[in-house]
Amino acid sequence: PGTPYLKVTPSMLKKMTGRKGKDAWTALGGRVYNLTPYLPFHPGGEPELMRCAGRDGTKLFGEIHPWVNYEGMLATSLIGMLVEEGEEAG
Ligand code: HEM
Repeated sequence: PGTPYLKVTPSMLKKMTGRKGKDAWTALGGRVYNLTPYLPFHPGGEPELMRCAGRDGTKLFGEIHPWVNYEGMLATSLIGMLVEEGEEAG
């Protein structure tokens, strides 16, 4: 059995803004990552990285630095898969 990754819906993602004591999550290429541990290390600074917090950052990321290997860099911060609303059960 593999790691029990979460199924994350857009409404769950929307709550993970990095505010109110919650971590900052984003979705990149259909996978959901916790950005909080990486925030202090982002070469573009924390405010830039926080632009994708609580939402799907795929497009924004691709517009800025599509060459960056986020899958490798955030492998230990993988939360789960982005799914449609209602698909999280089971
Ligand atoms: C650099 C923005 C997400 C890794 C930068 C820079 C900006 C930026 C503006 C340029 C900084 C400079 O040259 O002064 C953003 C935004 C993000 C985002 C808006 C939200 C989608 C990420 C993520 C990662 C990442 C998720 C990796 C986990 C990097 C790296 C650089 C960089 C490695 C240096 C790239 C290079 O110089 O080739 N970012 N970033 N960024 N960011 Fe991001």
